[in-house]
Amino acid sequence: MRIDIITVLPELLKSPFEASILKRAIDKGLVEIQLHNLRDYATGNYKQVDDYQFGGGAGMVLMIAPIDKCISQLKKERAYDEIIYLTPDGETLNQGMANQLSLHQNLILLCGHYKGVDQRVRDTIITKEISIGDYVLSGGELAAAVLADSVIRLLPGVLNDETSALTDTFQDNLLAPPVYTRPSEYMGMKVPEVLLTGNTKKIEEWRENEALVRTKKNRPDIL
Ligand code: ADE
Repeated sequence: MRIDIITVLPELLKSPFEASILKRAIDKGLVEIQLHNLRDYATGNYKQVDDYQFGGGAGMVLMIAPIDKCISQLKKERAYDEIIYLTPDGETLNQGMANQLSLHQNLILLCGHYKGVDQRVRDTIITKEISIGDYVLSGGELAAAVLADSVIRLLPGVLNDETSALTDTFQDNLLAPPVYTRPSEYMGMKVPEVLLTGNTKKIEEWRENEALVRTKKNRPDIL
């Protein structure tokens, strides 16, 4: 998979891909991340990428020309499955969307800033608009990192134990059950007996039940 990320703040997006699972995925060649500084596609002495909004009102708007130039250039090099704009008024990201996106070859992520982008970008260039939750971030960069992480960890070969993504919270519309590790008793707090029995059928039943209990308590809306 290849992910091109277009941003006015590329430095914000470096570190998420320089550690742990995402770095390993890149090193193994399972995903390629390319950051594009929108300013490199701007013209004029000031390399302007944003401007005041027509009709008045506070806040700057990212201009269509640099975005169009950057994306047109990328599209000449390869076909993109989705051109995604990160915005709080997009469709809310969930595990199903991450699963779907992980099946694609090439994605573009456009990070919004200030008051957002000129609506003509959304009308004519963007194919999907995604929000990572009902709150407003300073820009789309952290949202792009979250989206990329949720997708990349699903690519075959990225996680050591391939089954572990399958048992994640949300994968079957249930939250994941509680987990424990050594010691089996800490200051009088004991690990549930069943987990120490080695009886895989009983353990599986216990986990299913706990997942249901946790989901009913914390997220009844997804049941
Ligand atoms: N940009 C600002 N807030 C955002 C959010 N919640 N999701 C995606 N992009 C954003």
